[in-house]
Amino acid sequence: METLGTVLITEEQIADAVARLGAEISADYADSDVLLVGILKGAFLTMADLSRQIQVPVEFDFMAVSSYGDATKSSGVVRILKDLEQEISGRHVVIVEDIVDTGLTLHYLLENLWVRKPASIEIAALLVKEGIQEIPIEVKYRGFNIPPDFVVGYGLDYTGLYRNLPYVTVLDPDDLPS
Ligand code: PRP
Repeated sequence: METLGTVLITEEQIADAVARLGAEISADYADSDVLLVGILKGAFLTMADLSRQIQVPVEFDFMAVSSYGDATKSSGVVRILKDLEQEISGRHVVIVEDIVDTGLTLHYLLENLWVRKPASIEIAALLVKEGIQEIPIEVKYRGFNIPPDFVVGYGLDYTGLYRNLPYVTVLDPDDLPS
């Protein structure tokens, strides 16, 4: 199958990274169970693949958030479209994200979730864009640091498309259909 754009991270590289993150989480939570919180929509593939690499008991919940902004840039104003279905008080939470870009979404989510008094919150993100976090976010489980290019695939979209690509690829915004 022909690939789109300039492939940055292959399917095999993603699988290796997800296996590594799963092993790290399994080791760190050997004595406790974990509540994975996937941030929709982008995290659905990372959530599905990462969870299958975790060897300790895991429960699942999801939040859907939307950041106001244009198609390629977030604004930092976050709206909750779907909240968690369960209480997280006393739970060990791992937020699962496909990408940390400006960090504004996670900054908002961390503030929002800490109020609910979980035992701990850590972050697992497949991709972290380097050098552009407006707010520093500690990402304990990170797959790849990537340059600040516009990427799609493996959960990441452009106008709703390309989330199903099994690799992460760089699209030049000038080449995109408007
Ligand atoms: C993406 C991604 C993160 C957020 C990161 O979601 O899944 O949630 O952007 O950006 P930030 O670090 O600059 O805040 P998006 O808002 O595109 O929604 P989607 O997952 O539904 O595509």
